[in-house]
Amino acid sequence: MNSIKVKSPATVANLVCGFDILGLCLDSPLDEFTLSITDTVGVTIENIDNYNLPTDASKNVSGAALLKMLENENDIKGFHLISNKIIKPGSGIGSSAASAAGVIVAANHLLGNKYSKLQLVDFAMYGEEVASGAKHADNIAPAIYGGITLIRSNSPLDIISIDHPELFVTILHPQIEVKTADARNILPKEIPLKNAVTQWANVAGLVTGFMQHDYNLISRSLEDVVVEPYRSRLIPHFYEVKNAGKNAGALGGGISGSGPSIFMLSSTAEIATSVELEMKDVYLRTGIEFHTHVSKINKEGVKLA
Ligand code: HSE
Repeated sequence: MNSIKVKSPATVANLVCGFDILGLCLDSPLDEFTLSITDTVGVTIENIDNYNLPTDASKNVSGAALLKMLENENDIKGFHLISNKIIKPGSGIGSSAASAAGVIVAANHLLGNKYSKLQLVDFAMYGEEVASGAKHADNIAPAIYGGITLIRSNSPLDIISIDHPELFVTILHPQIEVKTADARNILPKEIPLKNAVTQWANVAGLVTGFMQHDYNLISRSLEDVVVEPYRSRLIPHFYEVKNAGKNAGALGGGISGSGPSIFMLSSTAEIATSVELEMKDVYLRTGIEFHTHVSKINKEGVKLA
């Protein structure tokens, strides 16, 4: 096999209280990548979307991840990538992770699936570093493993897939850009012990709620006293949207990744659709352009197209 096409999913990182450690995989939107093995050294990139992303591989999220993988390879010289991004960069639903994870899973197929999922996450994190300056795995891991994942440790990497009940995700994406690097820079380097206690109680509650399929516990645990107070200022009408979603029956929600997207979790597709209507209603009155999506949790991650 010399060429392969994959579809790579959007993801929601943090899941409110789990900054940099929790994430889930969405069914849609999906990027498309066609990857081929070439005889030329390095990675060449052809973009067929309108995002004007860098074609210099070392400055491109997909390219940087593939270059890292090539450092490990003696049998092949290079890759050619045709990149069709659907997930808008800077949207907060894991656009850079979809780029890095998608091409790394594609490359692994071309190489006879020789690498473990853990190794694939490790390669893909080099792409994430190009995007945000930080090698966080909370979008990459759910994109590669599917479902809901916990990054217990970044170094050495320790990733745990978390069982969960049926969940539906409603996303509202204001058409403004929040750069992950900027959204990280505004966070305090230290937090009061009292807030840390509240936060880790909520993380433990959320993971237990997922594993015990306890919607009420999930709902009670979707609270963030560490990051949301700072980042919510970057997202116009954040609390109005969040409250509208909760009033429509969502279990809870908050900022998706580093924003500007806002996500809500619901126990049924019907509730997720009512939540979408109420969130839309808030934004229709603001004059700010936006998109909404409703998605199931994708248990598979990156898949062959
Ligand atoms: N955990 C990262 C952050 C996700 O919140 O900065 C970025 O998509």
